Amino acid sequence: MSYRVLVTGSGGLLGSKLVKSLIKAGHEVIAIYRSHEPPKMTGVAPVKLDITRTQELRNLIIRVRPEAVIHAAAMTDVDGCERDKAGAWRVNVGATEAIAKASKAVNAYLIYVSTDYVFDGLKGLYVEGDLPNPINYYGLTKLLAEFVVKEVSDDYLIVRPSAIYGVGGSKTSFAEFVANSLSRGEVIKALTDQFVSPTYNKFLAEAITEALEVKPRGILHVAGPRLSRYNFALRIAEELELPAELVREGRVKDMVGWVARRPRDSSLRTDKARKLLRTEFHDLSKALRDFRNEWLNSRSRGS
Ligand SMILES: NC(=O)c1ccc[n+]([C@@H]2O[C@H](COP(=O)([O-])OP(=O)(O)OC[C@H]3O[C@@H](n4cnc5c(N)ncnc54)[C@H](OP(=O)(O)O)[C@@H]3O)[C@@H](O)[C@H]2O)c1
Repeated sequence: MSYRVLVTGSGGLLGSKLVKSLIKAGHEVIAIYRSHEPPKMTGVAPVKLDITRTQELRNLIIRVRPEAVIHAAAMTDVDGCERDKAGAWRVNVGATEAIAKASKAVNAYLIYVSTDYVFDGLKGLYVEGDLPNPINYYGLTKLLAEFVVKEVSDDYLIVRPSAIYGVGGSKTSFAEFVANSLSRGEVIKALTDQFVSPTYNKFLAEAITEALEVKPRGILHVAGPRLSRYNFALRIAEELELPAELVREGRVKDMVGWVARRPRDSSLRTDKARKLLRTEFHDLSKALRDFRNEWLNSRSRGS
């Protein structure tokens, strides 16, 4: 089936890969962006729009009548959300409400991209049914947006990834930072006491694209395996054949610049998604091999 899919955050770390994956699968994409443009490809119609302009957003969705909406835009700067709570609310909660209502009005299947940061991190390896308890404002706004989606929509999927990494989009992911720094011979510190489930942007995008066909409803954890940031950095060094001895141990207590608290262990169990989807989003070795190629290509392009 080929769908008309509206994607928000289409120039972002996840969104840019989503656009490519949707086009590859034969869909038509209406790509909403604010400042970072989506990939230029046949079948992609870029639309520059601030999603907090909710009336314009609603009008667009009603006019375009997408069969599916993938809402990947968010204020993702965790410390920025703590500093600018009103702004975080407008983007993460207010715009999500407008998107959920407009999607319902046109009977579009809504995929909302949430986060592992809805959890407090005291337990780790969370399943979909575990009780969220965010410990920072970013996590709170993303959880409230989940509530809004559940309340408004009756045809939705909430996807929760963790620590998205990859090449491309509007920011440098942790993995890219590690690879860039080590390749320049710079020492980096990575946390031994923060655990996440690093999720490769390309595989996450492919899993979401597959979800458009399978159409699961409810909440789905789509993420990689559990690792400390330190061990993740070591795996990157190993796979990219970069000097692992430049990776030094860091501790959360040393992160003096952090404004927001971070969960200690927000890793996710993904048994449900692995049963529903064929995409091998969980395979770290495969993901890092692909990441290595993307990273090398981006360096040879000089970007
Ligand atoms: N990164 C992670 O580790 C992580 C982990 C778990 C979940 N998530 C979730 O995954 C989703 C994608 O994250 P990501 O890593 O791809 O983030 P990202 O690279 O920061 O992309 C988010 C996009 O949202 C857009 N956006 C923000 N405010 C907007 C506004 N007012 N109007 C229109 N667009 C706006 C940004 O556009 P501009 O750049 O053009 O301003 C940006 O391209 C988010 O929902 C995030 O909460 C991320």
